[in-house]
Amino acid sequence: MVFRFSVSAALGLLLGCTYVLATPASSAAPAASTALPPIRSVAQPRFFGAALNSTFLFNDPIYTKLAETQFSIFTPENEMKWEVIHPFPNVYNFTPADELVKFSHTVNARMRGHNFVWGSQLAPWVNDSLTATEMDIILKEHITTIMDHYKKDNIYAWDIVNEIVSDTLNVSTFKQILWTQKLGEEVVAKAFTYARAANPSVKLYINDYSIEGLGPKSDALFGIVQGMMKDKIPIDGVGFQCHFGLGQVPATLQQNLQRFADLGLDVAITELDINTGSTSPTDAMFAQQAQDYLSVVSACAAVKRCVSVTTWGIMDNHSWIVGKDVLPWTGTGEAKPAATAIVQAFEAAK
Ligand SMILES: *[C@@H]1O[C@H](CO)[C@@H](O)[C@H](O)[C@H]1NC(C)=O
Ligand SMILES: *[C@@H]1O[C@H](CO)[C@@H](O)[C@H](O)[C@H]1NC(C)=O
Ligand SMILES: *[C@@H]1O[C@H](CO)[C@@H](O)[C@H](O)[C@H]1NC(C)=O
Ligand SMILES: *[C@@H]1O[C@H](CO)[C@@H](O)[C@H](O)[C@H]1NC(C)=O
Repeated sequence: MVFRFSVSAALGLLLGCTYVLATPASSAAPAASTALPPIRSVAQPRFFGAALNSTFLFNDPIYTKLAETQFSIFTPENEMKWEVIHPFPNVYNFTPADELVKFSHTVNARMRGHNFVWGSQLAPWVNDSLTATEMDIILKEHITTIMDHYKKDNIYAWDIVNEIVSDTLNVSTFKQILWTQKLGEEVVAKAFTYARAANPSVKLYINDYSIEGLGPKSDALFGIVQGMMKDKIPIDGVGFQCHFGLGQVPATLQQNLQRFADLGLDVAITELDINTGSTSPTDAMFAQQAQDYLSVVSACAAVKRCVSVTTWGIMDNHSWIVGKDVLPWTGTGEAKPAATAIVQAFEAAK
């Protein structure tokens, strides 16, 4: 699929503006991606990031090239999740994550560590047979060991607690996962406190989904974060995942980011992708997708304390959402209208 000709028209239509791609000097038509400025440059002073997957980073040169040129911050897609990095008691598998950290250094990008307290992708040895005391000891040891291991690496931020807010707020505020079942809501304070003790300077985040716009779940997270700050629990930032379907970016995203920022915290877009919902999306769908990327990036760019926009992957055929063309680049590395929209949003905010 060739996007070169539809991009400026689609965006012009959507934005009522005159943004156009640079005209290539040569008569040969290069890929659209070469006509766009590197997004890591236009995003400054913010970071532009991607979730990185080492399987693809070291096996798909197109993916590698985009990773090298477009991004200033990375999040390991799986490599720091419990089941990967700490598969057995006292056994740490640092190598896959180390490779990503090393790559980030070679391209002068930062890392967001991801994550410690989560209900999914936990190692089987961390299960219901453990007592609360054992769980507490294990959590402290896990956080301390990993943060110590990466202390020299200039990690920018860590997602300490991931997806802790309940989806059934009429039942509970905190999601019923092993951690909350064993340690109660105190697990949040414990995890952040252990993390701060392990590294006093890295940014500590709470990260979640369906909290992007104003609403009951966002209010619940807001209450949790306010409570943490009142109790002097060390928190520096809030991550807004932003896995959206077409046309589903909440109109209140910016307002919601701002109210968390107004607490004195950083905010970040941490896992952005826009699901077309189709295995053969139309041009109109790609145009809407571009508009949605634009809305999210513009919301971040309008909030002073919004430090980064991270997409959950790079190319369409490497996403956790298979076959729905959710990302800014195609499987052949062509910039989609979404990529142009991201550039446009960052540039408009300057
Ligand atoms: C990369 O993603 C693919 C597809 O989702 C997955 O099978 C693979 O395990 C991932 N690699 C790593 C190192 O997590
Ligand atoms: C549950 O955890 C215990 C303690 O770590 C471990 O001995 C046991 O093998 C685990 N069970 C499963 C099914 O992995
Ligand atoms: C909570 O709300 C959900 C969704 O609206 C509903 O299905 C469920 O029955 C409710 N549970 C209770 C205990 O009220
Ligand atoms: C993605 O597409 C590229 C280009 O067609 C191909 O080289 C690569 O193997 C694909 N990767 C996956 C995981 O399908």
